[in-house]
Amino acid sequence: MLTREQVLEALRDVKDPEINRSLVELNMIRDIHIEGKTVSLTVVLTISGCPLKAKIEDDVIAAVKALGAEEVHLQFGSMTDEERAALSAQLRKNQGGQTHNMTPGQAPVLNPILAKDSNTTFIAVTSGKGGVGKSTVTVNLAVALARLGKKVGIIDADIYGFSVPDMMNIEQRPTVIGETILPVEKQNVKVMSMGFFVEDNSPIIWRGPMLGKMLRNFFTEVHWGEELDYLLLDLPPGTGDMALDVHTMIPQSMEIVVTTPHATAAFVAARAGAMAKRTGHEILGIVENMAWYEAKDGTKEYVFGRGGGAKLAETLTCELLAQIPLGQPDNHPSEPDYSPSIYGEKTEIGQLYIDMAKRVIEKCGEAVKQ
Ligand SMILES: Nc1ncnc2c1ncn2[C@@H]1O[C@H](COP(=O)(O)OP(=O)(O)OP(=O)(O)O)[C@@H](O)[C@H]1O
Ligand SMILES: [Mg+2]
Repeated sequence: MLTREQVLEALRDVKDPEINRSLVELNMIRDIHIEGKTVSLTVVLTISGCPLKAKIEDDVIAAVKALGAEEVHLQFGSMTDEERAALSAQLRKNQGGQTHNMTPGQAPVLNPILAKDSNTTFIAVTSGKGGVGKSTVTVNLAVALARLGKKVGIIDADIYGFSVPDMMNIEQRPTVIGETILPVEKQNVKVMSMGFFVEDNSPIIWRGPMLGKMLRNFFTEVHWGEELDYLLLDLPPGTGDMALDVHTMIPQSMEIVVTTPHATAAFVAARAGAMAKRTGHEILGIVENMAWYEAKDGTKEYVFGRGGGAKLAETLTCELLAQIPLGQPDNHPSEPDYSPSIYGEKTEIGQLYIDMAKRVIEKCGEAVKQ
């Protein structure tokens, strides 16, 4: 004979996929009734249109059937505003179990990923000017790191010019529980972007200080679920306010500087690199994007010039991490998990990103050992 306690015990292992905590612990399981081998229960979701409802349903049914139940009747409900607020408070309280101060005199930061003892490696992707491929490099490096089994997040820190949701084809919106935001996951990468909070692609008209605040919120209000190995930041072009904010907010961040192969582009990118050095950010290396175009007969055409990446690496005394040729991902909207800007794992450019990710892991390992 099945008991309520057994059912609860079995469901202790079923996690809410977004929050990454047990449904039982989150008080999401209610009204358990057992009649012979039939179990009925209610799962109270954080929001009524929870995008991961189907996954929760499958997991709960599987767990209860594993106990020996023959039939499982599931009903779904959604939390009240009070319950959501309580859950939000609980998540904040339990994020690492304590609050952390970044620097004395500043507001406490609730998110432990920013704490000094956090194991998350921050990598800001930057460049001197726009359109060189920062966002493309960010999303592809993130996916490559995830393909290598790492836990990865992206913060699209380009608050005005956000592009990560489109590049990854994310249509889902983040779940907001009280004041806590849960990132959206795509291709095993957790993503947070201002684009999730803007209706109809309307322009954002906030000024500098507001932008910094928004970025800070991405660190303090976002519940990443589990400790990330890597958190990549896609920075806006140039060496403006936002770049400075990142420097002050995450002094331990490393940087990847993206450039095109043209000598003047490298010269401009050197400014971004110089700023990183001044603020003490370690430069992990240079990515030369749009390095060449490979014609059908295999010859390389250096349409945007040549040597910019190597020159920049020399100027900043760091490594040229990768040279990525021109080429669009050959993905089709009918594929599952389609995204327009992510190169397939088996493609030539996809492999270049895997190599880059391996080198990044190696270099960060080195950095940790020192
Ligand atoms: N290797 C490449 N081959 C072909 N197209 C590319 C490559 N890298 C980037 N692109 C394209 O170039 C454009 C600019 O890239 P992306 O948006 O990544 O640059 P960005 O530096 O983030 O720009 P911004 O400064 O506006 O944020 C995009 O349309 C992108 O798809
Ligand atoms: Mg960009």
